[in-house]
Amino acid sequence: MSEVSVTENADGPAPAGDQLVVLDNVNKHFGALHVLQDIDLTIHRGEVVVVIGPSGSGKSTLCRTINRLETVDTGSISIDGKPLPQEGRELARLRADVGMVFQSFNLFAHKTVLENVMLGQIKVRKTDRAAASKKARDLLDRVGVGTQADKYPAQLSGGQQQRVAIARALAMDPKVMLFDEPTSALDPEMINEVLEVMQQLARDGMTMVVVTHEMGFARSAANRVVFMADGRIIEEAEPNQFFNNPRSDRAKDFLSKILHH
Ligand SMILES: Nc1ncnc2c1ncn2[C@@H]1O[C@H](COP(=O)(O)OP(=O)(O)OP(=O)(O)O)[C@@H](O)[C@H]1O
Ligand SMILES: [Mg+2]
Repeated sequence: MSEVSVTENADGPAPAGDQLVVLDNVNKHFGALHVLQDIDLTIHRGEVVVVIGPSGSGKSTLCRTINRLETVDTGSISIDGKPLPQEGRELARLRADVGMVFQSFNLFAHKTVLENVMLGQIKVRKTDRAAASKKARDLLDRVGVGTQADKYPAQLSGGQQQRVAIARALAMDPKVMLFDEPTSALDPEMINEVLEVMQQLARDGMTMVVVTHEMGFARSAANRVVFMADGRIIEEAEPNQFFNNPRSDRAKDFLSKILHH
């Protein structure tokens, strides 16, 4: 597969204290369910944070609040020093700054792969068609699906579609990329081609929040693992520390279930 490259971090590692995404005492309910409880989470520029935890612990909701697909009840979220906008054009721009890749690929079925990757550039970033097309082809090449550009999403495998979804998000030059179980819907043989693209993105310095059950990815790509249960962040640690020496009983229990079957 060809290399993925994003805006290079030419200056080397991000300086300490360069906070890109900050959640401060965030709380959210769905009716009586307290789905996010006192969440404090800071993601630094260039950092890769893997979020794991049992089903229903609030991982997807956490991701969705970061690009305001969900609102929060109390607390604040800021991206690059600015609070999340409420609505309108500012919100559209925020959604472009925060790339999101879901389990289901969410490509526009009636548009070609190329058009899918061009659309946001034209509508939100106001890029002209020629430049948008060139950038789209370039990104499709980099995620290894350049030859599929003129096909429709349904003509591609799941792994190819997910790589198109990644290219589409990258086309907006996002400040941060959120991945919510991007490989969960894929056949096993397609998981690695998507993880490799994500690994390369991480190496290129992209700031990433990744909800995944792929513990190999977490070990090799994450700077930090955040473990959630019942709407709370129970534990966070550097991957080796977390996997070899989890501190909480909840994390020990969770790891024993996912690592030994
Ligand atoms: N729109 C909604 N309305 C009501 N309840 C919701 C809504 N979205 C999520 N929930 C509930 O909030 C809780 C957290 O859901 P969330 O999807 O964030 O969990 P998760 O950690 O991503 O789980 P999974 O591993 O299964 O994807 C669950 O109990 C879920 O049923
Ligand atoms: Mg989820």
